[in-house]
Amino acid sequence: MSARKRVGVLISGRGSNLSALIDACNKPNYPAEIVLVISNRQDVPGLKIALKSGIPMMVVDHKKYADRETFQVDLDAALRHANVDLICNAGFMRLLTEKFVEDWRDRQLNIHPSLLPAFKGLHTHERALEAGVKLSGCTAHFVRTEMDAGPIIAQAAVPVLPGDSADDLAKRVLEAEHKLYPLALKLVASGEASVKKEQVVFKNRQTVHGPYIAPWFD
Ligand code: GAR
Repeated sequence: MSARKRVGVLISGRGSNLSALIDACNKPNYPAEIVLVISNRQDVPGLKIALKSGIPMMVVDHKKYADRETFQVDLDAALRHANVDLICNAGFMRLLTEKFVEDWRDRQLNIHPSLLPAFKGLHTHERALEAGVKLSGCTAHFVRTEMDAGPIIAQAAVPVLPGDSADDLAKRVLEAEHKLYPLALKLVASGEASVKKEQVVFKNRQTVHGPYIAPWFD
């Protein structure tokens, strides 16, 4: 197997997707390893997950910087110092500058808890319920400057059930995220997925989707 891709994971909080990525990276033949976890917030649970797994971690606290540019100079320097090949945003809740996004173009992934391009941004599940959608889900995509946008690597759909609260839906979507994100990273790290004309194409398959819930028409 060729050398595993070195991954830096950016977090802001709970770190459950980080945990799913760590588990995947611990499997034999997985084409990536996490070499650094960076949080923009102190004392978040995700940092404890990194610590427990023995992965180097650091805090780059955005509040200590005068602006986004200087914050991201340090973020970039830390990632380069760790020789990172790929970045995974895992619940990283800071908007990135155009320079940072362009410097890491097609090498930075994000997971978002909706079927993009629907429901970008915050309060995703509340808005999905309000809109009355019957399917929701999650999307793994390459990062572009527009928030929660960029070439889609893979998506998984889950049903919205009658009486769901936003928390019920978030929980169901999160379970799918934990399967989808490791799959998306695997596809990118192995070279199976790449970007051509702002679309993700695959070497050996047509497309990638998680569970699909077929409607019935009787
Ligand atoms: C996840 O649901 C992720 O999709 C979402 O934040 C949560 C982080 O949870 N990300 C976004 O909304 C990005 N726009 P985690 O810290 O437990 O992985």
